[in-house]
Amino acid sequence: MHKILILPGDGIGPEVTAEARRVLETLVDGGDLDLSIEEGEIGGVSIEANGVPLTDETIDRARGADAVLLGAVGGPKWESIERDLRPERGLLRIRAALGLFSNLRPAILFPQLAAASSLRPELVAGLDIVIVRELTGGIYFGQPRGIDTGEHGERRGYNTLVYSEDEVRRIARSAFDVAMQRSRRVTSVDKANVLESSELWREIVTETARDYPEIELSHMYVDNAAMQLVRAPKQFDVIVTGNLFGDILSDAAAMLTGSIGMLPSASLNAEARGLYEPIHGSAPDIAGQDRANPLATVLSVSMMLRYTLDRADLAERVDDAVFAALDRGLRTADIAGPGDAAVGTRAMGDAVVKRLATNGG
Ligand code: IPM
Ligand code: MG
Repeated sequence: MHKILILPGDGIGPEVTAEARRVLETLVDGGDLDLSIEEGEIGGVSIEANGVPLTDETIDRARGADAVLLGAVGGPKWESIERDLRPERGLLRIRAALGLFSNLRPAILFPQLAAASSLRPELVAGLDIVIVRELTGGIYFGQPRGIDTGEHGERRGYNTLVYSEDEVRRIARSAFDVAMQRSRRVTSVDKANVLESSELWREIVTETARDYPEIELSHMYVDNAAMQLVRAPKQFDVIVTGNLFGDILSDAAAMLTGSIGMLPSASLNAEARGLYEPIHGSAPDIAGQDRANPLATVLSVSMMLRYTLDRADLAERVDDAVFAALDRGLRTADIAGPGDAAVGTRAMGDAVVKRLATNGG
């Protein structure tokens, strides 16, 4: 019996995780899956209830679970509180506490949504790339960091970009393993023309690739990678990069697909236990209005089935149910074209669940 912890979080988080939960429950009810589901708090809701964005107790429950499904964190209400207590810190803390160093962010263009892309259809038709972002190191976590006052009373803010050989080696392996299941092409993105941390990164990635003779590895500077992503994105298959570059490039890649509301992500540790979450944020402007797109969270469940629960068969059924809903013309507001009548969060969830209940294997 698998244990799943759902952390709905803030904004649209509770609405989208509710639909994803129904997807899991449909698989359980159909006898396809045996799991127990619990819920907990993270982000602003946890600040309200416990004074901190993530409690030790919730971390313990997350450690005891096979997988965590997270909605989103943050909102205007908590933007001006002390940095260490902000909702985002809850997210960074759970990544670090669970050792979730490997963040897989697929950017897939659904053929039904080609018109929603910011690029011309021929540049993005068939787009299917994965960004493998290092998630527990680099400038996000490097010490020293802070804001202090220098000699002349002038304040300075600073962070440290540091990567150890081990950290680079394990994320490189993770990317190569992903690539072995795909077209075996990996582009490592760095800034080795300027940064020492990148110089070492490139050296270790190259060295690690010797254990993967089938992998075709190339290297690219991050500024060029940003340009190539919006010029000719289909040249990429798997991109592996550090925490900050991955944060930036994955948002750009997401936009190529037309809707950030469609994209899931997985954050895995060394035991392939993971935290699964949609790439989009908490969207406080539409929270509680039944307008959010639940598909990124539903597809995060699909990634959970594939990577942690080892049920690629069920992952395919969930993917198929999402495809079927899109094929039927269902669109939430974020992916609706000019002539489409948008459906709500719940109605989109209904369509997926119904299809799932009838396409049993
Ligand atoms: C992401 C987000 C987070 C990050 C924020 C919310 C801390 O932008 O998951 O990409 O920067 O990692
Ligand atoms: Mg980001």
